[in-house]
Amino acid sequence: MSHVSIVIGAQWGDEGKGKWIDILAKDAEYVARFQGGNNAGHTLYIDGKKIVLHQIPSGIFHEGQICALTAGVVINPEQMVSEIKEVTQFCEVTPKNLWLSARAHVITPWSIQLDQTNEKNTTTPIGTTKRGIGPTYSLKAQRSGLRMGNYIDTASRKQWIKRQIAESEEFKSFYNSHQDLWTQFEAAAEKVAPYVLDADAKLREAIQSEKRLLLEGAQGALLDIDHGTYPFVTSSSTAAGGALSSLGFSPKKIGNIYGVAKAYLTRVGEGPFPTELDDEDGKLLASKGHEFGATTGRPRRCGWLDIVALRYAVQVNGLDHLILNKFDILGGFKEVKLAVAYEHPTLGRIENFPWDIDTLNSCKPIYQSFEGWPEDIPISGSMSELPKQALTYIANIEELVGAKVSMVGTGVNRSDALYR
Ligand code: IMP
Repeated sequence: MSHVSIVIGAQWGDEGKGKWIDILAKDAEYVARFQGGNNAGHTLYIDGKKIVLHQIPSGIFHEGQICALTAGVVINPEQMVSEIKEVTQFCEVTPKNLWLSARAHVITPWSIQLDQTNEKNTTTPIGTTKRGIGPTYSLKAQRSGLRMGNYIDTASRKQWIKRQIAESEEFKSFYNSHQDLWTQFEAAAEKVAPYVLDADAKLREAIQSEKRLLLEGAQGALLDIDHGTYPFVTSSSTAAGGALSSLGFSPKKIGNIYGVAKAYLTRVGEGPFPTELDDEDGKLLASKGHEFGATTGRPRRCGWLDIVALRYAVQVNGLDHLILNKFDILGGFKEVKLAVAYEHPTLGRIENFPWDIDTLNSCKPIYQSFEGWPEDIPISGSMSELPKQALTYIANIEELVGAKVSMVGTGVNRSDALYR
């Protein structure tokens, strides 16, 4: 029996993974983030207090656990320093319980600048979080990125900056005109240094010793650089497979794979969204679900649950368990819908998620409607306590996507959950 579990988002991010990672982390000894950077925002409520984590895994709140960021993550060091400070109000954060991979790449002021200007100057913006994520991964792929292990070493860091100045006039001019940003960036190195180590090797040792690990993804499967709605995606491997390459361990060691999906669907940023609603139902989902981005505050686009997309996510990630989150938001709707297929003007009925966004943009959802259920549903306990209309809705999802719904989210607190 394997002791390594993976949790990923099964939609376009913002599925509410933070809470579930927090719940599942209870049984883990190590919790590691495997991709993304501070583009993510995991909102948690600890004893009624709200906290938004951008980089540190949500497992940090469990005593005795070790949280790590593995090689495939990108790290904003200044933001890491302030996040550590914020989390310290709730629990201890030390190099004993927070490990940052020396291999992870660093988000520099230059990457943030590039992200902002790229988005401004293009005719087809992606709607990025402007946190410098894409340019940091680009530099990594170009073999000219800065890794955490080199960043915390003053000589290596200075050498990296020197090389960029020598190789790029744009970098040079940005560097010279924004000395304040670079001073702050360099000052953070000393503060994060105690947390930087070969976290990947230490986690592999833990796997070898059969310790319990939970590997957490950020964003969602439909934003995966390879399998998502390219180019309207993030720059890393958000799908479960990304955990393997980021930490570097044997696929044979993987046990349970959990996918978190909302009971409906949202998206922030640009890109296709066949079930997007531009009507009263869409507005109601947005207001009841408080659908604003945790990182950027942007309003999220809302729509009915897209079975074609979710089935694709189940397949791409090999999900063993589906967690249907924010189920309480659907209570009180007279009628709820599932998009069971798409209709395309020339291709006809489509049941498999298309690889290209032009096809996806021309798809209209084919809906199956379900009778709604009352606003009041049980908050905790067994899923079987749900009204029969809700159970019918869930049973249809399970059958259509080919995965079992093991847990249902009913509110923001740790205890607001129904189990099968
Ligand atoms: P980037 O990751 O900032 O480069 O943004 C690329 C795309 O991913 C944009 O559509 C963003 O809105 C989206 N994105 C990035 N992080 C998140 C997230 O945590 N939740 C939802 N969408 C995200």
